[in-house]
This record gives sequence, structure tokens and C-alpha cells, in this order.
Amino acid sequence: MSYKLGLIGDPIGHSLSPWIHKQFLDLADLQGEYKLYEGDYQELPSVLNHLKEIKIDGFNITVPYKQVIVDYLDELDPDAELLGAVNTVVNIDGKWKGYSTDGEGYVRSVKEPFPELLNHHTSVLLLGAGGAARGIYRALMQQQVRKVDIANRTKEKAESLLSLKEDRTSTAILSFQEAEVQLKEYDLIVQTTSVGMKPNADDQIIQLDNLKKDAVVSDIVYQPITTKLLRDAHSRGAKIHHGHAMLLYQGQLAFEKWTDKQLDVAHLVEKLERKLRGE
Ligand code: ATR
Repeated sequence: MSYKLGLIGDPIGHSLSPWIHKQFLDLADLQGEYKLYEGDYQELPSVLNHLKEIKIDGFNITVPYKQVIVDYLDELDPDAELLGAVNTVVNIDGKWKGYSTDGEGYVRSVKEPFPELLNHHTSVLLLGAGGAARGIYRALMQQQVRKVDIANRTKEKAESLLSLKEDRTSTAILSFQEAEVQLKEYDLIVQTTSVGMKPNADDQIIQLDNLKKDAVVSDIVYQPITTKLLRDAHSRGAKIHHGHAMLLYQGQLAFEKWTDKQLDVAHLVEKLERKLRGE
């Protein structure tokens, strides 16, 4: 068979997903295509009708349709239901089932270089409380880490993540200043906001003076590849984790759901980095 895959969103012209899934198809020795379906809000129903007609095997959904897509699905994975967002749809015998692979993809991307990092002793600081933070927070709950504190500019938005909390994990809601003061408590710091993204690459969300020795600092921003926060962390001797790794692993998880192929993609992190550098 030849897999029909794709991405819906707006704008998606610069998406790396076609490149990523071409790597996966080649690695799995499968035939297929991954097309971009860009369209504004009015066009969404007709785009989805077209995908039904061509019997698409699976697709990703990105901004601004991750929530609205839920109305068009036949079934929802329980975590996608809890998050109220879907980034991956699988066609199961004509029925569309929605999943959210961002959070688990993030966790996989961290476990690959740091297999011992996430356990019931681990303390995490999550910076941000948007869509990406919600998925990552939920996935960290499933790792049963000891603590995930959340620091966000708008405290109410951070509080809204508490509906995703599990009993085993504690969470305090902090200001950025409070987080900076108690930074040495954290084994992993996850930056999920757009702060530091091009063209504002000189911005850094918090100061790292109190960083714990051996902490891992992670930034989901991948433009630039190494954000100012990560450069700062590296210069202080911390271990760092880049955003493009999450991009790759959320794709790996989607590909797994579409094809049932479990691929080892670790070697593609560096290849994706070269692609991002335009090499
Ligand atoms: P995404 O889906 O990419 O996570 P989002 O849902 O729009 O995007 O969330 C953006 C996150 O970045 C939020 O946590 C937002 O903080 P607020 O909840 O206070 O809006 C955060 N963010 C964006 N710009 C920021 C800035 N300049 N300083 C601090 N936080 C910022």
C-alpha cells in the first residue's frame, strides 16, 4: 500500500513535517506521501471532506485547528479528550480517531538522551501554560514525577492546568521571580512559551543564577536551534535539550499510530538540526 498522510493548519508553508515523515517512510521502507493542506477557517469543512473522499490514512493538525478538529472526529483518545486538543488523526476503518502526541513526544525526546531523568524523585519547573505546556504537563503526570511547578505570566492560566494533575505529583503555581529564587530545586526546567523565538532571539524568560548543578534545561523553541536560555544554561555547565527533538518525536508517535511501525529515530535529531541550519 501507499500511505496517504498530511497536515492541516494555517500557515504551514514552512512546516518541517513533510521532510520528517519522508525520513520515517524511508526508514520504515514504506511507500507514501505527506501533503500540506493549508486553508483558512471557512475552508476547513471542505478540506476535511476532501480528506474523507481520498480515504486519507492519517493526518496532523496544527494551529489554529487543534481544538476545533474535535467536532469532526468519530472518537477521541482519553488524553486528547482531557486536553481538549488533537494534533494527530488516525483513520481506523473509515472512522477518524484523534490523539495528542505533543506531550508524550516531548517526554520521549527527553528520555532518549536522559533515560534516568524522569522518575518519582524528579522535580520539574514548567515555564508557560499554553497549549504546548498542557500536553507536556499531562505527559509528566504519566511519568509520575514528584513535582511539576508551573510559572506563567498569567497565573490564572497556570491554575487551569491543575485539572490535569494526578495525586502522586505536587504542583505549585509561581511567578517567574519566585521560580528564579528557588531554581535549585529543579532537576528539569522546560521552557514552553514563545519567548526567545526568532525574531526575538535576545529574550530570555528567566535568569538562571540559582540553577542546580546537573539540571537539564529544555526549550521547545527551535528557531533559533539554541535559544539564549539554552546558551546561558550551557555556559553554566547544565545539560541542555533542544526543541527540534520534541518536533521529531511527536512525529514519530504519530507515524507509529498511522503505520504500526516503531522506528528508532535518534539519529535523525542531528539530521533535522542540519536541515534547520539549511545545510
Ligand atoms: P502554545 O500553544 O504554543 O503553547 P499559547 O497557547 O498561545 O501557545 O501559549 C503561549 C504561552 O506563552 C503562554 O503561557 C503565554 O503566557 P500567558 O498565559 O501569560 O499569555 C506565554 N507567553 C507568550 N508571550 C510571552 C511573553 N512575552 N512573556 C511571558 N510569557 C509569554
